[in-house]
Amino acid sequence: MFKVHAIAPHRLPDLLSAMPKAELHIHIEGSLEPELIFALAQRNGVPLPYASVQALRSAYAFSNLQSFLDLYYAGASVLLHEQDFYDMAWAYFQKAKADHVVRAELFFDPQTHTARGVPMGAVIEGLRRACDDAQSQLGISADLILCFLRHLSEADALETLEEAMPWRAHFIGVGLDSSEVGHPPEKFARVFARAREQGLHAVAHAGEEGPPAYIWSALDVLQVERIDHGVQAIHDAALMQRLVDTQMPLTVCPLSNLKLCVFKDLAEHNLGRMLDAGVRVTLNSDDPAYFGGYLNDNYLQTFAALHLSARQAYQLAANSIEASFAPEADKHRWLHELEHTFERFAEGD
Ligand code: HPA
Ligand code: ZN
Repeated sequence: MFKVHAIAPHRLPDLLSAMPKAELHIHIEGSLEPELIFALAQRNGVPLPYASVQALRSAYAFSNLQSFLDLYYAGASVLLHEQDFYDMAWAYFQKAKADHVVRAELFFDPQTHTARGVPMGAVIEGLRRACDDAQSQLGISADLILCFLRHLSEADALETLEEAMPWRAHFIGVGLDSSEVGHPPEKFARVFARAREQGLHAVAHAGEEGPPAYIWSALDVLQVERIDHGVQAIHDAALMQRLVDTQMPLTVCPLSNLKLCVFKDLAEHNLGRMLDAGVRVTLNSDDPAYFGGYLNDNYLQTFAALHLSARQAYQLAANSIEASFAPEADKHRWLHELEHTFERFAEGD
């Protein structure tokens, strides 16, 4: 285990920004900034119910997950062509590069687009081309995770998975997102079993607003390899023990939780308590265009609010790399770069 050297407290923000890190919970449609929504609306002749970028941005005041999802799906309606998906993902990768992201696993919601008549190929090929360019032009390793919308039926999810199979090589896993309460993971048992048969990785949103029982069934029924959010686990001691014993990664998104009123204040967020309990927590941005910050903003604001340490910074970054679905050789290289970054800051340059 790498020994984290003492870091001068005033240097911690720069260290947080400079650390190589993985982002494992980012909905690419949630990276669509109001400026790009307006530009794509104009390019595609899609009418918007907002007079200006400013008017749209000022509508971003949410009271819960659903109040956000309504705007998020409306924003995604400007995406029609392969190039639109490319442009959206490429804009995200520029931000990710600035934040020293070395690995990104992008969620996408095909049903949001295919339901509007957008071809599956336009969605996946545009996103995949951006991932390939992220690697070749920015040095960011990137892959795609296809998410099912849990407010729709399992039959719809099964059909979506089949429809995506011609592009099987273009994505590495499946996930589960959208309105959580009332749509437990077990509703999607068969489609996750089918995805696992195809050698796809499995993750699911659980315990964002939903109860710990949803985390249990994501683990036991869907057999996921990571839990997205999972912050409600803290209310169930046996579940916490299981997460620690199995070192199950959680992809926690503090600014998202703040903006969707899962926590009243960032200072009340349980990320630090979960880390201290031995849970394998990672830190992520979720929907950065809607929640007021990309990955480094999440790190900086969370560390300031919770008074976290350099040791915890190392743990979060190392967890993100280790919990990614990247090849082991890449993980080793990034972990080595992470150690080197800490050594550089300890020495004071
Ligand atoms: N939760 C559930 N579904 C989502 C989210 C989220 O935070 N972001 C985009 N889709
Ligand atoms: Zn999410």
